[in-house]
Amino acid sequence: MEQFKGQPRLPKFASPKRYDIRLKPDLAACKFAGAVAINLDIVGETKFIVLNAADLSIQDGTVSFTSKASSKVFEPCKVDLVEEDEILVLEFPESLPTGSGVLAIRFDGTLNDRMKGFYRSTYEHNGEKKNMAVTQFEPADARRCFPCWDEPACKATFKITLDVPSDLVALSNMPIVDEKVEGHVKTVFYQESPIMSTYLVAVVVGLFDYVEDHTSDGVKVRVYCQVGKQNQGKFALHVAVKTLELYREYFAVPYSLPKLDMIAIPDFAAGAMENYGLVTYRETALLYDEKHSAASNKQRVAVVVAHELAHQWFGNLVTMEWWTHLWLNEGFATWVSYLATDGLFPEWKIWTQFLEESTEGLRLDGLAESHPIEVEINHASEIDEIFDAISYRKGASVIRMLQSYLGAECFQKSLASYIKRHACSNAKTEDLWAALEEGSGEPVNKLMNSWTKQKGYPVVSIKIIDDKLEFEQSQFLSSGSHGDGQWIVPVTFCCGSYDARRSFLLETKSTSIDLKETGAWIKVNVDQAGFYRVKYDEDLQAKLRYAIENEMLSATDRFGILDDSFALCMARQQSLTSLLSLMAAYREELDYTVLSNLISISYKVARIAADATPELMDYIKQFFIGLLQYSAEKLGWEPKEGESHLEAMLRGAILSALAEFGDEPTLKEASRRFHAFLEDRSTPLLPPDIRRAAYVAVMQTVNASNRSGFESLLRVYRETDLSQEKTRILGSLASCPDPNIILEVLDFILSPEVRSQDAVFGLAVCREGRETAWTWLKENWEHIWKTYGSGFLVTRFVSAVVSPFASFEKAKEVEDFFATRSKPSITRTLKQSIERVNINAQWVQSIRNEEYLAETVKELAYRKY
Ligand code: BES
Ligand code: ZN
Repeated sequence: MEQFKGQPRLPKFASPKRYDIRLKPDLAACKFAGAVAINLDIVGETKFIVLNAADLSIQDGTVSFTSKASSKVFEPCKVDLVEEDEILVLEFPESLPTGSGVLAIRFDGTLNDRMKGFYRSTYEHNGEKKNMAVTQFEPADARRCFPCWDEPACKATFKITLDVPSDLVALSNMPIVDEKVEGHVKTVFYQESPIMSTYLVAVVVGLFDYVEDHTSDGVKVRVYCQVGKQNQGKFALHVAVKTLELYREYFAVPYSLPKLDMIAIPDFAAGAMENYGLVTYRETALLYDEKHSAASNKQRVAVVVAHELAHQWFGNLVTMEWWTHLWLNEGFATWVSYLATDGLFPEWKIWTQFLEESTEGLRLDGLAESHPIEVEINHASEIDEIFDAISYRKGASVIRMLQSYLGAECFQKSLASYIKRHACSNAKTEDLWAALEEGSGEPVNKLMNSWTKQKGYPVVSIKIIDDKLEFEQSQFLSSGSHGDGQWIVPVTFCCGSYDARRSFLLETKSTSIDLKETGAWIKVNVDQAGFYRVKYDEDLQAKLRYAIENEMLSATDRFGILDDSFALCMARQQSLTSLLSLMAAYREELDYTVLSNLISISYKVARIAADATPELMDYIKQFFIGLLQYSAEKLGWEPKEGESHLEAMLRGAILSALAEFGDEPTLKEASRRFHAFLEDRSTPLLPPDIRRAAYVAVMQTVNASNRSGFESLLRVYRETDLSQEKTRILGSLASCPDPNIILEVLDFILSPEVRSQDAVFGLAVCREGRETAWTWLKENWEHIWKTYGSGFLVTRFVSAVVSPFASFEKAKEVEDFFATRSKPSITRTLKQSIERVNINAQWVQSIRNEEYLAETVKELAYRKY
């Protein structure tokens, strides 16, 4: 018995082949009863069967094993549910014969409120509060619903049966084959599934409406939502049908189930979950309202649907062998969701927007406390934390880098053969590399190991020395120190024009290349396809600045130059003075992705400068407001007839930024429009794309003696039944500079009026509120841990509240506070957040020592364009 404790994986005595599961949820009492019969192969004679179970109660006399080999029934002499290891150890008085048999277990459980396992979510119907029953099993919570071999490699088929109130809709992975109604209860029988992993099993029971369509090859697709909201499901339905057709071509394998249901769940911890044939979503990630959703909401729906449907192949059909390879699932789905979205909506220029993913990956991976893409997992509790920007964003970025190196066609063909080879089975990272290596003849395994097996990434420094271009790589760290990592870097560069692109693999620390076109601009990492940063010498930098001002570079390259420059500035390898001068070159920028990065860099600079050089703040804000004038005037407040998706998003981003920087004319105009909106929620004066801007503007002027804007926003929050409207409001409230109001906002997000899934949106606290937020976090820590600590949501509380600080003292204070309170599931996030505080503190010091900063800032603030 002891030998089974503390092990990362289950012993291999028995392997499950088929589960017959029957569940009877009681929605009123929030309980469920269940029974499972599992067909097993006993691999070697054993007295033990060990499988996963947690939070379930199993009565004596309800477990038996019927051996087919010996036609004998065995009853365990001991049934031990080891809670800390989440395992069920069954000990039999005699050895079980090898060969097949059936393990039968009856059990009871609670429909919990923690948004994992088998849980309840709540909604209103005709003014009445109701419960629904929902499952969320990834990564390791199927064991909270039924005893099982809860590891991705233990694939089996699933035959599910539900006993539910007869007036409710009951869904599972597969279509219904039979239904028997008896009084108020109906028994619903589902078709047996193809072989799949436990984390993909799903059940939803509640009241829903739906819309339906079919793919060209006959897959029935439905979007389920709250009663009366069917219209909001139409957009996702369209995306799903088109995306299934696209993936069928791309992966060269059809979708493997007869139906696909997608459903909006009011309480949902993640954004969405790719359960085989029954994909669950937050409402904001599935529903789109023609009148009240913004263009950014629409885009989010498309990208999330495309992501989850990608998993139906990459993840569900071919599954990672173990959580170490989680990134294969998530990194790949993230990358391919852009491919699909681009196919459906080319005018969104989604590949340019992809750079927002890369930059977040680079940001996290620039910390010493980052981790490699392939990460060892020793306990189920460690899995949650790796659903992070490394697995998703760095993962997606290194795939993009590889695709761009191998070529789109070769990449797709090799992928299709990988899917075919591992269909209905499991795969590891090296299996993907093997397929790509065979398809391309390139040393993919060697190249990619340097990116997935070590953390971090390089900065490539470029200098011109005597007609030669010199490249040197070293590990980039945001702290400014140098790590000793080395990579095989696919370097690309252009000199003076995009016509001649050169490329090579940088496999050593440094190399140099003959240069014919000296004198022209040189852009390295063309299109930002590579996951690395580039540092130019001063002369090359000046040439790039000139090329930006004269519109010679692509949007992706303009993004990259700015983003790298910002990162180098934070790492104190470049002055803030030179970053600001570079930013000035973007005053006529109109690309959505580039401008929104310019804006988010402006926020970060404004925050750090407020600590470093408060006396320059007015000038700095003035400069940032000035930078946005050109684009603000071009876009105005009114949507233009037939304008593009990107223009709508850009308008929202610019006006929000101007509001946040306290630009007076913006605040005034926003207030006028907000009041019109309060009178009439459908006023054309405040379309959804600029609502966030108006809300932020309103909150800028709220204080203890002028609370009406705040109260109006709370009223809108309470009145709307559109989740996107609620999150838009939550995300704006804490931008108020008055600490007392901030405190009210923070208390509000912990109140029953805000669903636990949404509280984190209210943590977007402005700099003036950071001390209030920290005190509040400390005071409420126990409650926060109790309410949000069972999943990854709690990590957001830590990072959002801690990371904005910029002093060594605060870093120490945070460390001290958590010394006795840290838990394994927040350790990594906490270390990362503290590292950020220290990085900020060093940055503040170096800014204070900059000689020409004040002079430059003043000149930039009053420069007339
Ligand atoms: N498999 C994940 C859902 C998930 C996340 C399960 C974390 C368990 C823990 C799903 O495919 C996913 O990645 N969802 C994303 C949305 C996506 C568009 C990036 C999410 O939930 O944020
Ligand atoms: Zn995913």
